Amino acid sequence: MDGDGRDSGQGERQGQSDRDQAVAALRAGGLVILPTETVYGLAGDAAKPEAVAAIFEAKGRPRFNPLIAHVADLATAERIAVFDDRARKLATAFWPGPLTLVLPIRDVSTVCDLARAGLETVAIRVPGHPMARALLAEFGGPVVAPSANRSGRPSPTTYADALSETGVSVAASLDGGPCEVGLESTVVALLDGAPRLLRPGAVTRAQIEALVGPLAEAADDAKRSPGRLAVHYAPDAPVRINAVSPEEGEAYLAFGPHAAGEWVFNLSPSSSLSEAAANLFAFLRAADRTKPSAIAVAPIPDEGLGEAINDRLRRAAGFVG
Ligand code: TXA
Ligand code: MG
Repeated sequence: MDGDGRDSGQGERQGQSDRDQAVAALRAGGLVILPTETVYGLAGDAAKPEAVAAIFEAKGRPRFNPLIAHVADLATAERIAVFDDRARKLATAFWPGPLTLVLPIRDVSTVCDLARAGLETVAIRVPGHPMARALLAEFGGPVVAPSANRSGRPSPTTYADALSETGVSVAASLDGGPCEVGLESTVVALLDGAPRLLRPGAVTRAQIEALVGPLAEAADDAKRSPGRLAVHYAPDAPVRINAVSPEEGEAYLAFGPHAAGEWVFNLSPSSSLSEAAANLFAFLRAADRTKPSAIAVAPIPDEGLGEAINDRLRRAAGFVG
C-alpha cells in the first residue's frame, strides 16, 4: 500500500476509497477485479442475474458451469446454504481460507439461478485475503467470483495478469499484490453420502479426511462440476508433463536444483510444493511469452499440495482425470 512512499494513513485512505469504488460498482451491477489468496477473481453481485450474465460473457464461460459465492464469514454463509456438522467442522477449521464447500442452497434469492447454473446446491467460501474480506464485509451479501481468466486459460495470480485477461470488462479493480497460494481453492461437496473432492487445492485431501473421514472419488460429479471437464488452465503453447529435461525449442518449468538457462523457469529450486504452486500459473504465462514449441514441465511429487499442482498440469496438457 505504501510502497510508493505514501504514509500508512494515506495508504489506508487510498484503500478505503478503492474499496468504496468497488462496493459502488458491485451495487450498480458492475464487475470488479478481486484479489484473493488463491487467484484473482472476476466479481459481481451474486443476487443480480445481469451482473452474473456479464461475468459469463467476459470469461466466455459456458453457462452450465456454476460460480462460487464468496462471503465475509460463516454466519453469512449459514444464511445462504445448509450446513451440517461436517460442513461446520470444515468451515471452522479452514475459513477464512482456500476451501470451497458445495452445499444445499437455503436462500435462492441471494445467489441467483444463473450463478448456480440452475442447481439446488451452492459453492461457497470465505476468502482469506484482507482486501477481499474487507470488501465482502462492507458489501454484506454474497459476491460470485470465478477466476478472472478467460475460460480455459490459466488463472491470474498477479494484478497485471488479471487486468490483461478480463480488465476491459470491469468497473473497478483492486490490486492485492501477487496471490499467496497461486492455485484455486479446494472444492468439497457435502451433499448425500460421503464428502467428495471435486477439485484438489491448498487444503489437502489428508487435512479434510482428518476431520470428516474418507473422501469419495469425484468421477460421478463431473457433470455437476462441469469446469472439471474441459481442457483448462492452458497457455497457448502445448504443455508436456513429467519431462525430466526439455527438448530443443521447448521452454522448461523445472522443480528442484536445475541449471539456469534462458528458457528455464524454476518453480522451486528448493523443491517446495507451496512455492511451486504460487509460481505455477505466472510461470506458465512467462514461458508462453518466449513462444516455445512446447512448455515441458518437470515431474512434481504427487503428495500434499502436489496433488493439486498435478491436477492443473494434467488439464493444461489436455489430459482429464
Ligand atoms: O480459488 C477459487 O476458488 C477462485 C477464487 C477467485 O475464489 N475461484 C474459482 O472459481 O476458481 P471458478 O469459477 O474458476 O471455479 C469454480 C469451480 C468450478 O469447477 C465449478 O464447476 C465448481 O467450482 N462449482 C461451482 N458451483 C458448484 C456446484 N454447485 N456444484 C459443483 N461444483 C460447483
Ligand atoms: Mg477458473
